[in-house]
Amino acid sequence: NMDPFKDEFLLATEIVISAGQYVRSAAKSQSQASESKECYADLVTEYDQKVEKMLMSAISEKFADHKFIAEEMSADGNSAAFTDEPTWIIDPIDGTTNFVHGFPAFAISVGFFHLQEPVFGIVYDIPNDKMYSAVKGKGAFCNGRLMKCSPTTELQEALIATEYGSQREPNFLKFKIDTMAKIVEKCHGIRSLGCATLNIIQVAMGTADAYYEFGPHIWDFAAAHLIALEAGAVCSAPNGGKMDLCSRKLMVCSTKELRDQLTPLIDDYQLARDC
Ligand code: IPD
Repeated sequence: NMDPFKDEFLLATEIVISAGQYVRSAAKSQSQASESKECYADLVTEYDQKVEKMLMSAISEKFADHKFIAEEMSADGNSAAFTDEPTWIIDPIDGTTNFVHGFPAFAISVGFFHLQEPVFGIVYDIPNDKMYSAVKGKGAFCNGRLMKCSPTTELQEALIATEYGSQREPNFLKFKIDTMAKIVEKCHGIRSLGCATLNIIQVAMGTADAYYEFGPHIWDFAAAHLIALEAGAVCSAPNGGKMDLCSRKLMVCSTKELRDQLTPLIDDYQLARDC
């Protein structure tokens, strides 16, 4: 039920648009200075940190007792506390590597949860000025237009999104590449936007038919998975089990049939949980 959190949704929309404009103007000045986090391929810029602070302080000003799980505040590797309290799950810039290189696929992602259930999700595609949002039970919208995922039921006719991710452990990369090899043999193709949220949004828009990934964090899919669900997608673990937001594994398929053809091709991989 959205109405009790209407003010939160309005505030979120407002601050995400203004933070997005701020990042877009920075993105015009070509490549961005970055530092690496856990691995040389896991990047952060001053904009990730500034945008996270901007969003969190605007929210705290109005809703002092709300909780946060956000990418940069979690950069110390400590696991996040995900409780029943009203909780904002924020990725200030998803697709930081793209932002650093000027590759036009990066987004602000804000999900709002209560009792550990999603209430609304907002994804703002910064370079393309597209606002995606969903309120639980009320449909998914792109700049005000209703979104609907594809009716594709055959893997042979499907376009699949996944990512190499930002970790470089050889075993993990081998697992990912072996899995992709099994899948690409059976489908139209594999795409990697370098931005988990925007991959999920492609499924919600019907421009891709499924997405799965091992390694993204809760803030990479908290908002986007609700948008996909509201557009008619099926969210699960990559093995077909129940979706677990803290597990760092996710699959989003436009239909159950596609999910059932993908899961036998995807083995499991153990990852440290987010929460
Ligand atoms: C990353 C991107 C990337 C995905 C990683 C994410 P970040 O998020 O979404 O495409 O493969 O799993 O962590 O670090 O740019 O916010």
